[in-house]
Amino acid sequence: MSLQSDNLGAETKPEAETIAFPPGFLWGAATAAFQIEGSTTADGRTESIWDAFCRKPGAVVNGDTGEPGADHYRRVGEDVELMRELGLGAYRFSIAWPRVRPDGGAPNARGVDFYDKLVDRLLAAGIAPWATLYHWGLPQALEEDGGWANRDTAYLFAEYAETILSKLGDRVTSWTTLNEPWCASMLGYGNGGHAPGRTEPAAAVAAAHHLLLGHGLAMDAIRRHAPGSLASITLNLFPTAPSDPDSAADIEAVRKVDGLQNRLFLDPVLRGSYPADVVADLAEFGLDELVQDGDLAIISAPLDLLGVNYYRGYQVTGTARDDAEPAGLDWPGARDVYFVTDPALPRTDSGWVVQPDGLTDMLLQVHREYPGIPLYITENGASYPDDVQDGGEVNDQDRVAFLDSHLRAAHAAIGAGVDLRGYFYWSLLDNFEWAEGYAKRFGIVHVDYRTQVRTPKRSARWYAEVINRNGIG
Ligand code: FCB
Repeated sequence: MSLQSDNLGAETKPEAETIAFPPGFLWGAATAAFQIEGSTTADGRTESIWDAFCRKPGAVVNGDTGEPGADHYRRVGEDVELMRELGLGAYRFSIAWPRVRPDGGAPNARGVDFYDKLVDRLLAAGIAPWATLYHWGLPQALEEDGGWANRDTAYLFAEYAETILSKLGDRVTSWTTLNEPWCASMLGYGNGGHAPGRTEPAAAVAAAHHLLLGHGLAMDAIRRHAPGSLASITLNLFPTAPSDPDSAADIEAVRKVDGLQNRLFLDPVLRGSYPADVVADLAEFGLDELVQDGDLAIISAPLDLLGVNYYRGYQVTGTARDDAEPAGLDWPGARDVYFVTDPALPRTDSGWVVQPDGLTDMLLQVHREYPGIPLYITENGASYPDDVQDGGEVNDQDRVAFLDSHLRAAHAAIGAGVDLRGYFYWSLLDNFEWAEGYAKRFGIVHVDYRTQVRTPKRSARWYAEVINRNGIG
């Protein structure tokens, strides 16, 4: 089957300009272990916080769980073949800590073996393996000892990194320590919408610091075991705009949200300090007291690149009004902040605004404020309902339009001087979308969870064509 045969791009936007990406631009797709693997008790794997969270009534839409999901653990050969047919240059996947060190304890060779073989399969298919060490699957046993709110977890994370790096460090092209520490800390421990489902703002702040400490400690393992590979962290960054650019209260609301969402993570990693205004906003939760001598030097170990996940931007106001939601527990310390929802804007099936220019803005913001670090978009994508038509086709024109507009936005950032070197679509396969269960489909490949049949959607064929041309034309 060739996925690169027809020129779907021209059909999508007949009037739009042809664009070419710089030579060597990396094209990929991303997934994460808990979202696709299934086989949650195979080969010595023990529970993660997401297995436990799925059992809490009402925590996950439809009570769906990670089992069997897209069944990738058993269908890995077929899935790598799909990637090869798409022409992917790289595949971003994550490693499940509870497979590699069940319960956060001793190493488990059978768990490591799955990733060992995955990496070899990818290399044999000519696809660069991009591995993420932590995409939210903390062993549940460690949560019972306090989870990320406990500083010891950072050191246990480094031991886990050591185990996996000592086996795969010779073959993985790029290592990412953490995926989206904002979600892992603020959604997991602050608003409780993600595992482990705690609603304790002080624990959320502690989790953020300990995740970053774990990142820095794991960087050391990467440098020792994988000196030739690229090392990074992935952050989910949100461009934040004032509802009224002339309102001092709205501009102050932007400062707070940009601080808690973006700068709380960017600054310690790329500048070696927490931003003073954010430390002040978080004073009642004790960020300052958590930081021990030497932590920030560990956290700011030099990176080879920064991974940026982009889905949408925020519009905020400092004044309560009917069309704005007050900031919740995801932004501890954000007093007098309200998120504006504009009903006129187009949205995905997740209810997220479609805002491609926000991607250009965010990349430019990082480029301006943190110069010199190469950037990769490690996630960008959209959920749409994706009906399977007669004949098995999924004609996801909405996703093609989303991809087209966001790739043009990425290209515009490059044109404005941003050192952007690659793009990973989220996601290769339809999968378990966290608290939304299997209700939201982000894949360019449709998965029938009952039969496990994979069907490349129209967007997969469109993306394959982009990869083939290194552009849109
Ligand atoms: C990101 C997550 C990823 C996926 C997308 C839609 O926040 O990193 O696992 O769920 O959102």
